Amino acid sequence: MAEDHLVQPWPVSGSIGAEARGRLTAGEGIYVTDAAGRRLIDGPAGMWCVNAGHRRRELAEVMAAQAMELSYNSPWYTTNAPSAILSKRLAGHAPEGLDHVFYTTGGSSAVETALRFMQFANNVKGRGEKKLIVSRQGGYHGSTYLSASLNGRPRDQDWMDSASELVIKLTCPNPFRRPDGVGAAEFCDYLVSEFRDVIETVGAERIGAFVAEPIMASGGVIVPPDGYLSRMRALCRDNDILFIADEVVTAFGRLGQVFASQDVFGLDPDMITFAKGVTSGYFPLGGVMIAGRLLEDLRRSNHSEAMFAHGLTYSSHPVGCAVALKNLDILEDGLLEHARAVSSHFQSRLKALEALPLVGEVRGMGLMACIECVADRTSNNPLTLDLEVGKRIDGHCQELGLLVRPLINMCVMSPPLTITTAQIDEMADILRRGIELTMDDLVREGLWHG
Ligand SMILES: Cc1ncc(COP(=O)(O)O)c(C=O)c1O
Repeated sequence: MAEDHLVQPWPVSGSIGAEARGRLTAGEGIYVTDAAGRRLIDGPAGMWCVNAGHRRRELAEVMAAQAMELSYNSPWYTTNAPSAILSKRLAGHAPEGLDHVFYTTGGSSAVETALRFMQFANNVKGRGEKKLIVSRQGGYHGSTYLSASLNGRPRDQDWMDSASELVIKLTCPNPFRRPDGVGAAEFCDYLVSEFRDVIETVGAERIGAFVAEPIMASGGVIVPPDGYLSRMRALCRDNDILFIADEVVTAFGRLGQVFASQDVFGLDPDMITFAKGVTSGYFPLGGVMIAGRLLEDLRRSNHSEAMFAHGLTYSSHPVGCAVALKNLDILEDGLLEHARAVSSHFQSRLKALEALPLVGEVRGMGLMACIECVADRTSNNPLTLDLEVGKRIDGHCQELGLLVRPLINMCVMSPPLTITTAQIDEMADILRRGIELTMDDLVREGLWHG
């Protein structure tokens, strides 16, 4: 039926609307079951989102109870208790001053909301020119028109239109791909000076926001060089450019904290976008934390009738917010601590895969990591796209009991935060075997010589 009737996300035109993807039938803890009855470790936690693990009765029960109590209310002219309580609790975890929340239906709509808010605020302040958005090569921010316009991964925009006239893209802060002979500190200096040059050339009066994932997630778990984020933040502050931290992946425990900006990186963004782990994927919910002073500015402006004409039917959804509250209980009652406790074992078991000749680098932080494969360790050339090494590794790993998230030549791992050290060992052992089998195939097919 899917093959005949379903259009799935990110299809290629050759199979659009006619593709059957592997069907999953059940989940429990860190495992999912496929249609053939095989039990697989959910290596990517769905799409970086099933943070509390599959099949948590308390999340299911709160969802059912809230649906029976108040299943929906129009956020246009009414409110509900779960969204108000959740806002207060999130403000308690966010950096000082980020004390307001606008709820959306996911990450793209959260980024879209933050950007439209910046545009609106600058209109109200009489700075209609200050609208350009700075993002980075390698970043991913969503699939709505404006959020997608910020994306900078290879192939994201090859066949798609975008609001390119509104966006300036800086170099990807990937230390692994820095030019030969350039040290990490020097690379960081270059990245910061590039932003400074852009501000000087374009004019701070035309740049409204800088949008950055603290760690680029689907661009390949790119951990920027030390000092990069705080120096970019300082440039934003000096030039009255809003710093929007896109924490759709890094929030809700992936890096061991509810929000990573301040607690992991010492950053105080003007806005933080979040989604995914806020409900552990049990209900579609996202949002933007907004600094209260930005709202005060608007309240004090001369345009009290100016309307932020932006809202979603499902903004502040009572069921989503009730699930998020229970999910936050789970995180606060030990899951964050557990994630912090197992992350060094996770990172070191995966790091050991660098010993395999196909693996160029393993990098990551907390419970997110990327295994990047390269054909040639000295030149760091990725294998040609067509070889799709990630897919081959995923194929072998699935046979062995592990779902991998293949991204061209990279495998991204971000399991449910409930994973134990023994399960990390199981996952790392399968991954090693999957890569070894892929190396054997490539040699046998004459595509690679080890
Ligand atoms: C950093 C980041 N921002 C935004 C998004 C878009 O979120 P959604 O798919 O929920 O719209 C994603 C999705 O993966 C993401 O990784």
